Amino acid sequence: MSKKFMVTSALPYANGPIHLGHIAGAYLPADIFVRFQRAIGNEVLYICGTDEHGVPITLRAEQENVTPRTIVQRYHENIKHAFQRLNIAFDTFSGTSQLHNKHHAKISREFFLNLLQNGLVVSRLSDQHFCEKCSRFLPDRFIQGICPNCGYPEARGDECSQCNRPFDPLALKSPKCKICGNLPTVKSTKHWYFKLDVMQKELQTWLDTKTGQWKENVLNFVNSWLKQGLQERAITRDLYWGVPVPLHEEAAGKVLYVWFDAPIGYISATMEWAESQGNIEKWREYWQNPNCQIVHFIGKDNIPFHAIIWPAMLLGQRLNYELPWQIPANEYLTFGVTGGELSEKASKSKGNVVWVHDALDVFPADIIRYYLASSSPERNDTMFTWRDFQKKSNNELLGVLGNLCNRILKFIEKNFDGQIPELGPLSPRDQEMRQHILTTLNKVCENFDHFEVKAAVAEIVNLGRLGNQYFDEKAPWKTFRENKADCQTCMCIGAELIQAIAVMLGPILPESMQKLWQQLGHADIPNHWDFATRKLPVGH
Ligand code: 2FM
Ligand code: ZN
Repeated sequence: MSKKFMVTSALPYANGPIHLGHIAGAYLPADIFVRFQRAIGNEVLYICGTDEHGVPITLRAEQENVTPRTIVQRYHENIKHAFQRLNIAFDTFSGTSQLHNKHHAKISREFFLNLLQNGLVVSRLSDQHFCEKCSRFLPDRFIQGICPNCGYPEARGDECSQCNRPFDPLALKSPKCKICGNLPTVKSTKHWYFKLDVMQKELQTWLDTKTGQWKENVLNFVNSWLKQGLQERAITRDLYWGVPVPLHEEAAGKVLYVWFDAPIGYISATMEWAESQGNIEKWREYWQNPNCQIVHFIGKDNIPFHAIIWPAMLLGQRLNYELPWQIPANEYLTFGVTGGELSEKASKSKGNVVWVHDALDVFPADIIRYYLASSSPERNDTMFTWRDFQKKSNNELLGVLGNLCNRILKFIEKNFDGQIPELGPLSPRDQEMRQHILTTLNKVCENFDHFEVKAAVAEIVNLGRLGNQYFDEKAPWKTFRENKADCQTCMCIGAELIQAIAVMLGPILPESMQKLWQQLGHADIPNHWDFATRKLPVGH
């Protein structure tokens, strides 16, 4: 029976363009998974959009002296265009503000009110940083200082990007207002807190079922959080840009925390899609259906939000929401500094990133996709260098795979009038080559199914190498004269080989494999896994 998937990629903040680190983390692996699942006959809906609320957007707007809307509109279009150019093919690319989604605020309010009604949200007064000069509270990234845990000087709000350990914002040393640089004072304000502590047991029971199913990096993170004991978390902020807290006067000037409404964006984007299909209720077939598997592709910094807080929000609704089936979080793509010996985390402020638009101005999408897939940071941080990019493109993509396809197709074109000849007798060597094709198909299928794109690429390149060796050994340019039947066999198997490669690489290199498919004489692009082993008839 075919499966049904709801696939999401982390919603990028609409506060700047996207870089190759983002792509390698949460977008390309998802796009490949989606294309593969469809190729083996499964049903998939692939959802994304921009994350349009919160401090990242507000801060950028204030720094540029424009409205948050202006920032959101600009980067929504910018990001959407970059994805299109790279052939990351979402079924819908929505957003979380009213600019792009008319359902989002409503369902976010519902999520909040349901938790409140179910006793999982409480309000309290608490002390927060306040800038007298700017007359405002300083939530999250509006404040910068020294991390109380590790001493990192650029810790923001309550998170440190160096040690990744959370802390109480008031513990931040030498805090400064990010807008004016002033030393803030402390002022009391009312906020609403999500009682994660109350949900610990329930979450633990569910997460226990994921042992051995989820990636180790995700499980490690989750287990260490649970071990420390879950704590309640503020889910509102003193900000003017966001979904207003749905509680009249007592919540005036307060909005839902961006990390509260962002994951709800997956659902509201599905509603937008469902509406475009003429039936808004269709969203339930993905989010409230035990037969649909929900897969969230993210980078590792998003693990706690997707593996703990978001499932807790879903559970706490006490409605029939399904929980994530898989969360294949990737590690980071780090960026090499000159010479390629040093590398560091991608950072917009350090300017060490490669922007998707810039890369696409120089290279076709498939070449970038190939490199990012072959160096996918699945288990470890992986360093991007242009040197390595050059090496992999030239040696593997061109030298092994391109060369193989070119040799076989050219030979058939030149010596057999571009038609598949009759299969001659099969030697053990020929049978062995056919076996390699089948074995690789099975392995690659398993790799894709288990989010192991890097291993899949390695298998396919290896098959390409074996194919080139086979071609060299069989020396068809000789047998064409001396043993024509053997030459024909070599060409038939060669064509089978590249047909299998076209299908296997289809999810990674959609444009090139479509071309290869056509060069193989196929009219359409069925791109179905079964076609990998379809026999090409004599005369095709
Ligand atoms: O880390 C980020 O870039 C966030 N904007 C990801 C949000 S993912 C989801 F929850 F929306
Ligand atoms: Zn200030």
